[in-house]
Amino acid sequence: MLHNDQLDQWDRENFFHPSTHLAQHARGESPNRVIRTASGVHIEDRDGNKLLDAFAGLYCVNVGYGRPEIADAIAEQARELAYYHSYVGHGTEASITLAKMILDRAPANMSKVYFGLGGSDANETNVKLLWYYNNILGRPEKKKIISRWRGYHGSGLVTGSLTGLELFHKKFDLPLAQVIHTEAPYYFRRDDLTQSEADFVAHCVAELEALIEREGADTIAGFIGEPVLGTGGIVPPPDGYWSAIQAVLAKHDILLIADEVVTGFGRLGTMFGSEHYGMTPDIITIAKGLTSAYAPLSGSIVSDKVWKVLEQGTDENGPIGHGWTYSAHPIGAAAGVANLKLIDDLNLIENAGAVGSYLQQGLNDALSEHANVGDIRGEGMLCAVEFVQDKDGRTFFDAANKIGPQISAKLLEESKVIARAMPQGDILGFAPPFCLTRDEADTVIAATARAVKTVLG
Ligand SMILES: Cc1ncc(COP(=O)(O)O)c(C=O)c1O
Repeated sequence: MLHNDQLDQWDRENFFHPSTHLAQHARGESPNRVIRTASGVHIEDRDGNKLLDAFAGLYCVNVGYGRPEIADAIAEQARELAYYHSYVGHGTEASITLAKMILDRAPANMSKVYFGLGGSDANETNVKLLWYYNNILGRPEKKKIISRWRGYHGSGLVTGSLTGLELFHKKFDLPLAQVIHTEAPYYFRRDDLTQSEADFVAHCVAELEALIEREGADTIAGFIGEPVLGTGGIVPPPDGYWSAIQAVLAKHDILLIADEVVTGFGRLGTMFGSEHYGMTPDIITIAKGLTSAYAPLSGSIVSDKVWKVLEQGTDENGPIGHGWTYSAHPIGAAAGVANLKLIDDLNLIENAGAVGSYLQQGLNDALSEHANVGDIRGEGMLCAVEFVQDKDGRTFFDAANKIGPQISAKLLEESKVIARAMPQGDILGFAPPFCLTRDEADTVIAATARAVKTVLG
């Protein structure tokens, strides 16, 4: 289709896109899609293509697109008070109300919420809080953070280090020395195929114990993990994983950060993933689902245990030297209040659980017999299909074949359905808005089966 504007050209000449092959994009070798509008689970580009977004943007538009309740709340807030800061005890009705709404929904041991803008800066805050905490407690050596290979925690300096994916380290001089990695709880990709799930959990625990032993528990402040691995492959943990890991952390006085940027506010069919897996974190990271991405906002929910030490710290040292201009931005906060209300009013968490299971079951029925489908897994409105070259030997395709990206491209081309080719492995990820209907799930399932057939036969 011809356009009478210069957006394509301006885009390639001026716009530095994140997570993009910069050279190909600048040369015009990769698509640039200009999104114009959206409603429910569909987005529409300026060519009039209507696409079913089965990844909710970047698993963030949880309530679905085009909700007037949130748009109106943002507009009203912008008219009444577009900005005031939250330093030295300032607040707005929206930010104070939202903090209360979050704590009302969070696990019982949680005490306060610090607001940021995105998941990366929230995790950056969390690491600083753990360092501050141990300095106040007189343990200046206890600073390292353990993360898992395949974890995703952002792409800043510390958070890109926490992220356990090669792409985010390579040529960036990461990870930083304060971050160390341990085994991912990825049963399907275990090295030893004879291991049962319980054996594999014991192996993850042994790896963690060995790492702590090597580094010294008195040098380790925290452990960060997503309840379900997200960008690293959408991998629910094996049974018993979190209770076994937490027992080790407790023994060594290592605090747990639950990164709930994806799982917070309902994606697993429960309010938090911590609740789902019986985790008792010391800090919880929230972002995406807090506002359903209608405005940028994140948070660090800190437990009573951490909060008490932070209070002691400011009594001893004066105000905490940490803050962003846009912490608790009123527009983000107004979006958050309206979003959490909408989730309750429309029972969206229940729908995420029910339709999410329906979607996973449907993918299973349609694809589990396929010779190249190795694993279909998920929890709530979050699931993945992993492709293998050979099922019995569980051998993987050469990454250069780009099987995952090919299937997601076909899905889009043939059926106008968006699913995400996860960055490491041939894994197709699904994380639709919570309002997905069974009919829409059927569309996604049929389209996926078609794309798999086109690419793999
Ligand atoms: C679990 C998790 N933590 C942190 C982040 C980083 O969030 P942001 O991209 O908003 O900085 C992400 C982003 O996908 C995430 O999935």
